[in-house]
Amino acid sequence: MNWQIHHFLELESTNTTALTYPVGSVITAQRQTAGRGRSGRVWQSLDGNLFLSAVLPAFDEQTPLLSFVAGVALAESLKPLPVRLKWPNDVLLNGAKLAGILLERIDDKVIAGFGVNIAAAPQSNLMYRATSLNGHLQKAAVQSALLTALSDNLSLFQTQGFAPIRQKWLEKAAGIGSQITVRLPNETLNGLFESLTPQGAISLKITETDRRFITAGDVFFNT
Ligand code: BTN
Repeated sequence: MNWQIHHFLELESTNTTALTYPVGSVITAQRQTAGRGRSGRVWQSLDGNLFLSAVLPAFDEQTPLLSFVAGVALAESLKPLPVRLKWPNDVLLNGAKLAGILLERIDDKVIAGFGVNIAAAPQSNLMYRATSLNGHLQKAAVQSALLTALSDNLSLFQTQGFAPIRQKWLEKAAGIGSQITVRLPNETLNGLFESLTPQGAISLKITETDRRFITAGDVFFNT
């Protein structure tokens, strides 16, 4: 992808601005005043962190799998660090959340919004413990590595489908083979995180005879 990068000093949300741009555009902002997270949550956007939204093409029923393409790309862009992926695409460092991704679909486009705690991590009102890179990598370096990795993984997905992306995701996945809790809108499930299905769902073994496949929810590790 030959990215067209548009940088702003301040935006409410790079994802909101990106909604009006064509495929191949990238929107970044130095400051974000109303950052949005998954499930309608607020994304606390501290100064010095990376706020970047890329406009990707939609892929019909395969579109939700872009979540894993984006997660793998972000993890690869932070390569020197031992990051892990928490389903579907949170990036963890030392067990704490370093980065999050919000995917939003509009018509035939998908906005992939990346928030990376480069300089600082929020400390309060959090669902998960957060951390930052604390100067270990520069924002510009992460941005450039992310756009390269996003392009590469998007091409891989377009040419070879989900299988190689799933394989890469599994290699970096946190919590596979362990007991997890999954919070759904109307219930909370506990079970063994067996694997990621070829459709991108969590395979959760609740009992010998009860297995659930989860496509949306918040995962917590039982440490
Ligand atoms: C999450 O983990 O809840 C997803 C967080 C996504 C935050 C990024 S920051 C850049 C882009 N603009 C937004 O308003 N949200 C995403």
